[in-house]
Amino acid sequence: MNYTEKIKESATFIKSRLPKNPDVAIVLGSGLGDLAEQIQNPIVMPYASIPNFMQSTAVGHKGNLIYGELGGKAVLAMQGRFHYYEGYSMEQVTLPIRVMNALGISTLFVSNAAGGINPEFRVGDLMIIEDQINLMPNPLVGKNMEEFGPRFPDMTRPYDLDLIKTCKKIAEQQDISLQEGVYVGGTGPSYETPAEYKYFRIIGGDAVGMSTVPEVIVARHGSMRVFGMSVITNEGFNFTHDFVNDENDVVEAAGKAAKKMTVLFTEMIRSL
Ligand code: HPA
Repeated sequence: MNYTEKIKESATFIKSRLPKNPDVAIVLGSGLGDLAEQIQNPIVMPYASIPNFMQSTAVGHKGNLIYGELGGKAVLAMQGRFHYYEGYSMEQVTLPIRVMNALGISTLFVSNAAGGINPEFRVGDLMIIEDQINLMPNPLVGKNMEEFGPRFPDMTRPYDLDLIKTCKKIAEQQDISLQEGVYVGGTGPSYETPAEYKYFRIIGGDAVGMSTVPEVIVARHGSMRVFGMSVITNEGFNFTHDFVNDENDVVEAAGKAAKKMTVLFTEMIRSL
């Protein structure tokens, strides 16, 4: 079965299980699966039950596709995502985004846990992703999928400006403070050396992680509207001699900030 047929097969399977087409897709990053608990009348589809979906092996990633209501809209949320560092190809990493696009979902919310490289940032901060830098292989390399989008997709506005505006308005109403910045996506799985954190800052990054960027490239190729948020889980600009980067600390820090992000996503979805 070729890639296009796999996308269609997964989409057909998912569609057959849903009472109605979702309005919004959500990807929940490390430690951020909490939002999924707020989804009303959930239909939970483990990835293992969906044709062509991979297993989620990353820490803090559960591995369910969840349909239900959030903010009065029908949403389809990925509780856990696929990463390049898990050994999946870029086609595999981004298959769920293609499937959501094929289902006709036009708005995508992505989230992740990320290392802070802007010295103003603190652990637990939420950062609106205003732009991104791709340091991974581009997921669109290969024959262009004309049915989704053009060979050379525009990436001038990867993150939707209206959604960013809405987020800021809601954050103000809810008294949630926000950072805003550029997300750098690397392959991982090793965390960055101090020299690499410094380098990412110099090239214009504010936060660094191992996901999101391929998903957003594929979503934009398919003309989806994208909103992205990082939860800052370390301060990668200020390592003391005894600091070590640890995945469990990342998940814990993300979990603590997850409630704020849940409120923002819910109210943003309500306003769509
Ligand atoms: N680097 C890369 N990915 C991450 C980090 C980091 O410091 N923190 C959480 N995800």
